[in-house]
Amino acid sequence: MTVTSPADTPAARTVDLHKTYGSGDSAVHALAGVSLDLETGRFTAIMGPSGSGKSTLMHCMAALDTPSGGTVEVAGTDLGRLKDKDLTALRRERIGFVFQAFNLIPTLTALENILLPLNLAGRKPDQQWLDTVIDAVGLRDRLGHRPAELSGGQQQRVACARALASQPSIVFADEPTGNLDSTSGAEVLAFLRRSVDDFGQTVVMVTHDAVAASYCDRVVFLADGLVVDEIQSPQREQILEHMTRLQELAAARSTRA
Ligand SMILES: Nc1ncnc2c1ncn2[C@@H]1O[C@H](COP(=O)(O)OP(=O)(O)OP(=O)(O)O)[C@@H](O)[C@H]1O
Ligand SMILES: [Mg+2]
Repeated sequence: MTVTSPADTPAARTVDLHKTYGSGDSAVHALAGVSLDLETGRFTAIMGPSGSGKSTLMHCMAALDTPSGGTVEVAGTDLGRLKDKDLTALRRERIGFVFQAFNLIPTLTALENILLPLNLAGRKPDQQWLDTVIDAVGLRDRLGHRPAELSGGQQQRVACARALASQPSIVFADEPTGNLDSTSGAEVLAFLRRSVDDFGQTVVMVTHDAVAASYCDRVVFLADGLVVDEIQSPQREQILEHMTRLQELAAARSTRA
Protein backbone atom coordinates (compact mmCIF):
# COMPACT_ATOMS: atom_id res chain seq x y z
CA MET A 1 0.00 0.00 0.00
CA THR A 2 1.96 3.03 -1.21
CA VAL A 3 1.13 6.62 -1.98
CA THR A 4 1.57 7.18 -5.70
CA SER A 5 2.37 10.33 -7.60
CA PRO A 6 3.97 10.80 -11.02
CA ALA A 7 7.59 9.66 -10.75
CA ASP A 8 9.27 12.95 -11.62
CA THR A 9 6.92 15.27 -9.69
CA PRO A 10 8.43 16.10 -6.30
CA ALA A 11 6.10 15.69 -3.32
CA ALA A 12 6.72 19.37 -2.64
CA ARG A 13 8.74 22.10 -4.30
CA THR A 14 9.52 25.74 -3.57
CA VAL A 15 10.91 28.18 -6.09
CA ASP A 16 12.52 31.42 -4.87
CA LEU A 17 10.33 31.42 -1.76
CA HIS A 18 10.32 34.63 0.26
CA LYS A 19 8.60 35.46 3.54
CA THR A 20 8.91 38.85 5.16
CA TYR A 21 7.32 39.66 8.50
CA GLY A 22 6.62 43.35 9.23
CA SER A 23 7.76 46.22 7.02
CA GLY A 24 10.23 49.09 6.82
CA ASP A 25 13.08 49.12 9.36
CA SER A 26 11.48 46.38 11.44
CA ALA A 27 11.03 43.93 8.50
CA VAL A 28 12.33 40.40 9.13
CA HIS A 29 13.26 38.38 6.03
CA ALA A 30 12.49 34.92 7.42
CA LEU A 31 12.85 33.33 3.96
CA ALA A 32 15.11 35.09 1.47
CA GLY A 33 14.71 32.95 -1.68
CA VAL A 34 14.44 29.22 -0.93
CA SER A 35 14.35 26.84 -3.92
CA LEU A 36 13.98 23.26 -2.77
CA ASP A 37 12.64 19.99 -4.20
CA LEU A 38 11.46 17.30 -1.77
CA GLU A 39 11.38 14.04 -3.70
CA THR A 40 8.57 11.55 -3.21
CA GLY A 41 9.29 8.64 -0.88
CA ARG A 42 12.20 10.24 0.98
CA PHE A 43 12.81 11.35 4.56
CA THR A 44 14.45 14.79 4.69
CA ALA A 45 15.72 16.74 7.71
CA ILE A 46 15.81 20.53 7.80
CA MET A 47 18.45 21.88 10.19
CA GLY A 48 19.83 25.33 10.98
CA PRO A 49 20.26 27.84 13.80
CA SER A 50 17.31 29.22 15.75
CA GLY A 51 15.62 31.90 13.64
CA SER A 52 17.02 30.59 10.33
CA GLY A 53 13.51 30.15 8.90
CA LYS A 54 12.88 26.40 9.36
CA SER A 55 9.37 26.69 10.84
CA THR A 56 8.46 29.48 8.41
CA LEU A 57 9.50 27.24 5.50
CA MET A 58 7.42 24.32 6.84
CA HIS A 59 4.37 26.54 7.46
CA CYS A 60 4.55 28.08 3.97
CA MET A 61 4.97 24.66 2.33
CA ALA A 62 2.09 23.20 4.38
CA ALA A 63 -0.26 26.08 3.49
CA LEU A 64 -0.42 27.19 7.14
CA ASP A 65 1.16 30.55 6.23
CA THR A 66 1.23 32.64 3.05
CA PRO A 67 4.56 33.45 1.38
CA SER A 68 5.47 37.01 0.40
CA GLY A 69 6.93 35.85 -2.92
CA GLY A 70 7.88 32.77 -4.93
CA THR A 71 5.90 29.57 -5.34
CA VAL A 72 5.06 26.42 -3.40
CA GLU A 73 3.86 23.27 -5.16
CA VAL A 74 2.49 20.21 -3.39
CA ALA A 75 2.18 17.10 -5.60
CA GLY A 76 2.43 19.36 -8.66
CA THR A 77 -0.29 21.84 -7.54
CA ASP A 78 0.74 25.49 -7.20
CA LEU A 79 -0.74 26.56 -3.85
CA GLY A 80 -0.75 30.23 -4.87
CA ARG A 81 -3.28 29.51 -7.62
CA LEU A 82 -5.85 27.86 -5.35
CA LYS A 83 -8.96 29.53 -3.97
CA ASP A 84 -9.31 29.40 -0.15
CA LYS A 85 -11.79 26.50 -0.30
CA ASP A 86 -9.50 24.40 -2.51
CA LEU A 87 -6.48 25.27 -0.37
CA THR A 88 -8.32 24.05 2.76
CA ALA A 89 -9.26 20.81 0.98
CA LEU A 90 -5.69 20.28 -0.22
CA ARG A 91 -4.33 20.94 3.29
CA ARG A 92 -6.71 18.35 4.77
CA GLU A 93 -6.23 15.68 2.14
CA ARG A 94 -2.68 16.00 0.77
CA ILE A 95 -0.72 17.40 3.74
CA GLY A 96 0.03 15.97 7.19
CA PHE A 97 1.57 18.09 9.95
CA VAL A 98 3.18 17.00 13.24
CA PHE A 99 3.88 19.77 15.77
CA GLN A 100 6.45 19.83 18.57
CA ALA A 101 3.65 20.26 21.15
CA PHE A 102 1.52 17.37 19.74
CA ASN A 103 -1.59 19.64 19.39
CA LEU A 104 -4.13 16.90 20.13
CA ILE A 105 -7.71 17.77 21.14
CA PRO A 106 -7.87 16.96 24.90
CA THR A 107 -11.55 15.96 24.94
CA LEU A 108 -11.23 13.43 22.10
CA THR A 109 -9.89 9.87 22.37
CA ALA A 110 -6.76 8.81 20.50
CA LEU A 111 -8.85 7.27 17.72
CA GLU A 112 -11.11 10.35 17.46
CA ASN A 113 -8.01 12.55 17.22
CA ILE A 114 -6.56 10.34 14.47
CA LEU A 115 -9.82 10.51 12.49
CA LEU A 116 -10.46 14.24 13.02
CA PRO A 117 -8.89 15.57 9.77
CA LEU A 118 -10.76 12.95 7.70
CA ASN A 119 -14.03 13.79 9.49
CA LEU A 120 -13.47 17.51 8.86
CA ALA A 121 -12.88 16.71 5.18
CA GLY A 122 -16.08 14.62 5.13
CA ARG A 123 -14.09 11.56 4.05
CA LYS A 124 -14.47 7.97 5.13
CA PRO A 125 -11.23 6.42 6.36
CA ASP A 126 -9.65 3.62 4.32
CA GLN A 127 -9.97 0.99 7.08
CA GLN A 128 -7.08 -1.15 5.83
CA TRP A 129 -4.73 1.83 5.72
CA LEU A 130 -5.92 3.02 9.13
CA ASP A 131 -5.24 -0.43 10.64
CA THR A 132 -1.77 -0.43 9.08
CA VAL A 133 -0.95 2.97 10.56
CA ILE A 134 -2.40 2.19 14.01
CA ASP A 135 -0.43 -1.06 14.22
CA ALA A 136 2.75 0.61 12.94
CA VAL A 137 2.60 3.25 15.70
CA GLY A 138 1.75 0.54 18.25
CA LEU A 139 -1.42 2.22 19.55
CA ARG A 140 -3.99 -0.54 19.14
CA ASP A 141 -4.57 -0.90 22.93
CA ARG A 142 -4.65 2.88 23.59
CA LEU A 143 -7.28 4.00 21.06
CA GLY A 144 -9.94 4.77 23.69
CA HIS A 145 -7.60 6.88 25.87
CA ARG A 146 -7.68 10.67 25.97
CA PRO A 147 -4.36 12.57 25.50
CA ALA A 148 -4.00 13.24 29.28
CA GLU A 149 -4.01 9.46 29.82
CA LEU A 150 -1.10 8.95 27.41
CA SER A 151 2.64 9.54 27.77
CA GLY A 152 4.31 12.25 25.66
CA GLY A 153 5.70 9.62 23.29
CA GLN A 154 2.29 7.99 22.91
CA GLN A 155 0.66 11.39 22.28
CA GLN A 156 3.20 12.15 19.57
CA ARG A 157 2.57 8.74 17.98
CA VAL A 158 -1.17 9.60 17.92
CA ALA A 159 -0.23 12.88 16.21
CA CYS A 160 1.89 10.93 13.66
CA ALA A 161 -1.02 8.55 12.96
CA ARG A 162 -3.33 11.57 12.55
CA ALA A 163 -0.89 13.12 10.05
CA LEU A 164 -0.78 9.89 8.03
CA ALA A 165 -4.49 8.94 8.20
CA SER A 166 -5.38 10.65 4.91
CA GLN A 167 -2.35 9.11 3.07
CA PRO A 168 -1.05 12.61 2.38
CA SER A 169 1.41 13.49 -0.38
CA ILE A 170 3.79 14.79 2.28
CA VAL A 171 4.10 14.94 6.07
CA PHE A 172 5.75 17.98 7.65
CA ALA A 173 7.05 17.51 11.20
CA ASP A 174 8.41 20.55 13.10
CA GLU A 175 10.73 19.28 15.86
CA PRO A 176 8.52 16.21 16.48
CA THR A 177 10.95 14.85 19.08
CA GLY A 178 11.72 18.24 20.69
CA ASN A 179 9.52 17.54 23.74
CA LEU A 180 10.36 13.84 24.11
CA ASP A 181 12.96 11.85 26.04
CA SER A 182 15.41 9.94 23.85
CA THR A 183 13.55 6.60 24.07
CA SER A 184 10.18 8.08 23.07
CA GLY A 185 11.92 10.20 20.44
CA ALA A 186 13.53 7.10 18.95
CA GLU A 187 10.08 5.42 18.71
CA VAL A 188 8.65 8.39 16.82
CA LEU A 189 11.69 8.54 14.51
CA ALA A 190 11.52 4.79 13.85
CA PHE A 191 7.86 5.16 12.93
CA LEU A 192 8.54 8.08 10.55
CA ARG A 193 11.40 6.09 8.98
CA ARG A 194 9.11 3.06 8.58
CA SER A 195 6.35 5.14 7.01
CA VAL A 196 8.84 6.12 4.30
CA ASP A 197 10.44 2.68 3.81
CA ASP A 198 7.35 0.45 4.09
CA PHE A 199 4.48 2.73 3.01
CA GLY A 200 6.25 5.03 0.50
CA GLN A 201 5.35 8.19 2.46
CA THR A 202 7.31 11.42 2.06
CA VAL A 203 8.40 13.06 5.30
CA VAL A 204 10.25 16.30 6.02
CA MET A 205 11.27 17.03 9.60
CA VAL A 206 12.84 20.00 11.34
CA THR A 207 15.31 18.99 14.03
CA HIS A 208 18.20 20.41 16.06
CA ASP A 209 19.42 16.92 16.88
CA ALA A 210 22.13 15.22 14.78
CA VAL A 211 20.98 11.78 15.94
CA ALA A 212 17.40 12.48 14.79
CA ALA A 213 18.68 13.83 11.45
CA SER A 214 20.77 10.68 10.94
CA TYR A 215 17.48 8.72 10.49
CA CYS A 216 16.93 10.74 7.29
CA ASP A 217 18.00 10.23 3.66
CA ARG A 218 19.04 13.85 3.27
CA VAL A 219 19.77 16.86 5.48
CA VAL A 220 19.17 20.40 4.19
CA PHE A 221 20.78 23.25 6.15
CA LEU A 222 19.21 26.71 6.36
CA ALA A 223 20.90 29.90 7.51
CA ASP A 224 19.40 33.41 7.39
CA GLY A 225 16.43 32.24 5.33
CA LEU A 226 18.50 30.47 2.63
CA VAL A 227 19.51 26.90 1.86
CA VAL A 228 23.28 26.93 2.46
CA ASP A 229 24.30 23.27 2.47
CA GLU A 230 23.02 19.71 2.22
CA ILE A 231 24.16 16.12 2.84
CA GLN A 232 22.87 12.89 1.29
CA SER A 233 22.75 9.65 3.35
CA PRO A 234 23.96 11.53 6.44
CA GLN A 235 25.94 10.02 9.30
CA ARG A 236 25.79 11.59 12.76
CA GLU A 237 29.48 12.64 12.78
CA GLN A 238 29.17 14.23 9.36
CA ILE A 239 26.05 16.17 10.44
CA LEU A 240 27.88 17.45 13.54
CA GLU A 241 30.82 18.61 11.38
CA HIS A 242 28.48 20.53 9.05
CA MET A 243 26.65 22.07 12.05
CA THR A 244 29.96 23.21 13.57
CA ARG A 245 31.17 24.69 10.27
CA LEU A 246 27.91 26.62 9.79
CA GLN A 247 28.11 27.96 13.36
CA GLU A 248 31.70 29.12 12.70
CA LEU A 249 30.64 30.84 9.46
CA ALA A 250 27.74 32.55 11.27
CA ALA A 251 30.05 33.69 14.09
CA ALA A 252 32.57 35.06 11.54
CA ARG A 253 29.77 36.93 9.74
CA SER A 254 28.41 38.49 12.94
CA THR A 255 31.95 39.61 13.97
CA ARG A 256 32.40 41.34 10.59
CA ALA A 257 28.92 42.93 10.73
N1 LIG B 1 4.72 35.77 13.11
C1 LIG B 1 5.93 36.34 13.06
N2 LIG B 1 6.06 37.70 13.13
C2 LIG B 1 7.27 38.30 13.07
N3 LIG B 1 8.44 37.63 12.91
C3 LIG B 1 8.37 36.30 12.84
C4 LIG B 1 7.12 35.58 12.92
N4 LIG B 1 7.40 34.24 12.82
C5 LIG B 1 8.74 34.14 12.69
N5 LIG B 1 9.33 35.36 12.70
C6 LIG B 1 10.77 35.64 12.56
O1 LIG B 1 11.22 34.99 11.38
C7 LIG B 1 12.51 34.43 11.59
C8 LIG B 1 12.45 32.93 11.30
O2 LIG B 1 11.64 32.30 12.28
P1 LIG B 1 11.37 30.72 12.32
O3 LIG B 1 10.36 30.49 13.39
O4 LIG B 1 11.06 30.26 10.96
O5 LIG B 1 12.80 30.16 12.76
P2 LIG B 1 13.26 28.66 13.12
O6 LIG B 1 14.40 28.36 12.23
O7 LIG B 1 12.08 27.76 13.09
O8 LIG B 1 13.79 28.84 14.62
P3 LIG B 1 13.73 27.81 15.89
O9 LIG B 1 14.85 26.84 15.66
O10 LIG B 1 14.01 28.69 17.06
O11 LIG B 1 12.38 27.19 15.93
C9 LIG B 1 12.91 34.76 13.02
O12 LIG B 1 13.73 35.91 12.99
C10 LIG B 1 11.58 35.04 13.69
O13 LIG B 1 11.73 35.94 14.76
MG1 LIG C 1 11.05 26.66 14.55
